[in-house]
Amino acid sequence: MSVGDWNTDDPPTPDPTRPPDPGPNDRMTPRPPPPATPLDVTATLSAQSADTRAVGYLQRELPPEPSDPSPPPPEVGTQVGPHVLQEKLGEGVSCHVFRGWDSARSCPVALKILNWANVYDRPAAMRQLRTEAITLSRVKHPKVVRFLDFGFDPRWPYLVTEFVEGRPLGELLRGGGALPPAWALYVISQMVDALGAVWRALVVHRDIKPDNILIGPNGIAKLIDFGLAKSDALKASRAESVTGPELAGTAAYLAPEQAKDASLVDHRADIYSLGVTLYEALTGRLPFEGRNRVQVIFQHLSTAPVPPAQRVEGIPPLVSDLCLWMLAKAPADRPQNYEELRQAFDTVIGVGR
Ligand SMILES: Nc1ncnc2c1ncn2[C@@H]1O[C@H](COP(=O)(O)OP(=O)(O)OP(=O)(O)O)[C@@H](O)[C@H]1O
Ligand SMILES: [Mg+2]
Repeated sequence: MSVGDWNTDDPPTPDPTRPPDPGPNDRMTPRPPPPATPLDVTATLSAQSADTRAVGYLQRELPPEPSDPSPPPPEVGTQVGPHVLQEKLGEGVSCHVFRGWDSARSCPVALKILNWANVYDRPAAMRQLRTEAITLSRVKHPKVVRFLDFGFDPRWPYLVTEFVEGRPLGELLRGGGALPPAWALYVISQMVDALGAVWRALVVHRDIKPDNILIGPNGIAKLIDFGLAKSDALKASRAESVTGPELAGTAAYLAPEQAKDASLVDHRADIYSLGVTLYEALTGRLPFEGRNRVQVIFQHLSTAPVPPAQRVEGIPPLVSDLCLWMLAKAPADRPQNYEELRQAFDTVIGVGR
């Protein structure tokens, strides 16, 4: 029996790739109504609950430039809006990430602040961070980092989320290699639920990888970093500025179709990237390694992965099969939605007990 055969008794749904209408027993938050027009921030956020403070910030037009033409990089002790920066957590291509203290909420928060030193097109970078904020604000789920605020300092625009105690899965894998299969399944199955909520919000994350999954005490996982996410609500306005295929994502985790044109992908590209992440968690290695991005992408497009069970002794065949199913080259050959994927995880985890 292959993993794909498990659900053959289920009643067929008209289009398994579309998010379902949430029923009374839906395990996650209900899907908000479809947004009315592209970048209609009020409509987008009216589906959300409490964060009225954030609605104001997101609606306000950003100034084209910061008031100080060359603001210094933010550092520990700097006041950013109503927050004091307490510890640097990370630095990506275009952003600094700090833990800060929110005196209004009396709690630690995470602040993603534009790093002007690496930004060439300032208005575009500011719009992108605001898009990340709007997209994240659409997704509410305990396994997805919670959106709190988007502000303009006015030295830097910044995105505020809940602070998650923990370390990126990527760091854990780099430090200690493969996880025991039961742990890998536990962590990745939490991301199946997180991505189910992302899917119901009509968002594709497009950057699923171990560095964007934070692992807290007891292996509780949270999805972060919606910097590359694609939202149906914002698609039309973005499409105007994109000519030709869009390049987005990290080569090692990139679905074949995302490597061709990231603007056209649906949630099944996230399922593929989650499959790569599961593969790495199980084996401590990537399915495809190469000296450069092109070599890796070529393998995503045309090379069959070595089954995880052949790489590491002790990985149950069903777990290996599930991972290979997620890594199918054609989106139509992968699990078609997160309910199907969740059922497969439940079956595999149940068999292992
Ligand atoms: N909410 C959070 N709580 C705790 N730590 C966080 C949080 N958000 C981010 N971090 C830390 O900061 C690092 C970078 O964050 P993130 O992935 O959002 O930014 P990035 O990768 O720099 O973004 P981009 O790729 O969009 O430039 C994370 O790997 C994590 O260590
Ligand atoms: Mg990241």
